[in-house]
Amino acid sequence: MSMSQVSAATESLQEQLVRFRRKLHEHPELSLEEFETTQHIRDFLTDHGIEILDYPLRTGVLAIIRGRKPGPCVAIRADIDALPILEATGLAYTSQVSGKMHACGHDFHTAAGVGAAVLAKEAADSEESFAGSILFVYQPAEEVGQGAKIIVDTGVFEDLQVGAIIGEHNNPLQALGTIGVKSGALMGSVDEFRIVVHGVGGHAAIPELTVDPIVIASQIVSGLQHLVSRVTSPHDQVVVTVGKFQAGTARNIIPMEAVLEGTIRSLQPAARAKVEEHFHTFVEQTVAAYGGKVTFEFERILPSVLNDEATSEVVRAAAVQVVGAENVVEASPTLGGEDFALYQQHLPGCFFWVGTGKPYGWHHPSFDVDESMLQTTSQVFVTAALAWLKQHA
Ligand code: NI
Repeated sequence: MSMSQVSAATESLQEQLVRFRRKLHEHPELSLEEFETTQHIRDFLTDHGIEILDYPLRTGVLAIIRGRKPGPCVAIRADIDALPILEATGLAYTSQVSGKMHACGHDFHTAAGVGAAVLAKEAADSEESFAGSILFVYQPAEEVGQGAKIIVDTGVFEDLQVGAIIGEHNNPLQALGTIGVKSGALMGSVDEFRIVVHGVGGHAAIPELTVDPIVIASQIVSGLQHLVSRVTSPHDQVVVTVGKFQAGTARNIIPMEAVLEGTIRSLQPAARAKVEEHFHTFVEQTVAAYGGKVTFEFERILPSVLNDEATSEVVRAAAVQVVGAENVVEASPTLGGEDFALYQQHLPGCFFWVGTGKPYGWHHPSFDVDESMLQTTSQVFVTAALAWLKQHA
């Protein structure tokens, strides 16, 4: 497709995408409950003559655009779910569902994703068309880290022999109008733990007859920070956070147990493995040193988002084409988790930032996106997908 065709089509497409995004924004649905959202996506795609694939999904949509000639397949992914947050933006199209909100901008992602499908369909129907096909993944349940697995388990990536996957997230911390691309680690792995320190309770004034689980748990909280500063390299990015510390019933009682819960985030897989290994030893031996006992759970939730170099280069070149070299920046990594990482366990992929330059961060009650980036995001998606197909034809 020529650039003039893109701009002619996007004039009205942008308005459609804004309307579509606002409709989703007014009716946010939580992870695994995206039934209306799924119907809106299906309706929009069907209205534009786009083929929906028949896979058994409770929520979420898989669609495909086929070029006139056979060839490879590349996927574009958008997540569709909202969060349990009471919206405080005061927008005209604010959430109509109390306590639920699109506070991560997945409404924006979904709209940019259907916009990309419309542009891809135009390209497929155009004179020159293209060789291969583009799979569109409208993924449920990103916020609970389950949606990517649901999509992978359909078998669609094997069925279509998908060669790469491209996804994006709006980024309020990045300047409006820019696209951020980075090869390598972009988002953190997510591990979660729960530690129960079992002591011996007793009178606050007679500690020698007790094993104080609060003192032991406090040693664990501060000691865990040394895993970051002393075990991993200063060049690695790792965060250990204890977000929950529960113990005790009264000021004059040493309780029987203390409970800690927290999360570990790392950008580098090697750092992640090292922290996990030392975590176990550190917790067990600290508790033992004080004469207590411990039970703990450690769960690997998500790997880190690791962009492969070749796909990232395709996305970077596409971004330059759409927004100009002066608006393409090196993406800043974050230790937030993203289940796009699961796709990258199966196939190469690139996840990029769309700069929206907003004052409030993800998951804030006043979070907002900038709709002017909708059509731009659709264009980056499709330009990258078509370039990838050409490269792999
Ligand atoms: Ni998100």
